[in-house]
Amino acid sequence: MANPRDPKTPAPTDTAQTFQTSEEVEPHQDDGHYTVVSDIKVAHGKVPKFLKFVYAALAVWGLYYALAAKPINDRTEASPSAVPTAEAGAEVFSTSCAGCHNPTAERKIGPGLLGVQQRLGDKELDNVLHNGRPDKGMPAPPSLNLTENQIQSLKLYLTSLKK
Ligand code: HEC
Repeated sequence: MANPRDPKTPAPTDTAQTFQTSEEVEPHQDDGHYTVVSDIKVAHGKVPKFLKFVYAALAVWGLYYALAAKPINDRTEASPSAVPTAEAGAEVFSTSCAGCHNPTAERKIGPGLLGVQQRLGDKELDNVLHNGRPDKGMPAPPSLNLTENQIQSLKLYLTSLKK
């Protein structure tokens, strides 16, 4: 650190003196492109072209978003997978269940599921689809990360597997 008493260090000046006075700087000198305020050039006038484009695009997008966007709840309700179908169930079956079950009468790891709804009835089928039979090696479908919707689809699909 410089020693303030060192003769090489300039004596501290009164801060007021470091600012230019109004005689030295015209506060609002305007040559058409910028204004000088407190010795700082402040540009004014035109918005750059590309920014105009960005503003316009934002405005269009904003308007579109305001008019067309729907709350997330409405979106999921409107999507086709929101209605349980046997077709969706068949897809879920092939990814989540086919490793252990055939859609035929043939046994795999678990029993073949042909006619399973006729065999178990709605209530028991529902029970198995929600709770599984963990003690007998049948995992509860919710534990396989299946939604209620997918489970209902599976139920429709399994019910369609009639003998
Ligand atoms: C890890 C293998 C495994 C997976 C995966 C599996 N299950 Fe099972 N499942 C079994 C076994 C084992 C049984 C027989 C349980 C018993 O003996 O009661 C069974 C039984 C069932 C039953 C009762 C059948 C009957 O006749 O009593 C149904 C319905 C069923 N599973 C549906 C499904 C569905 C739908 C899926 C896909 C979400 C699925 N399972 C995934 C192993 C599995």
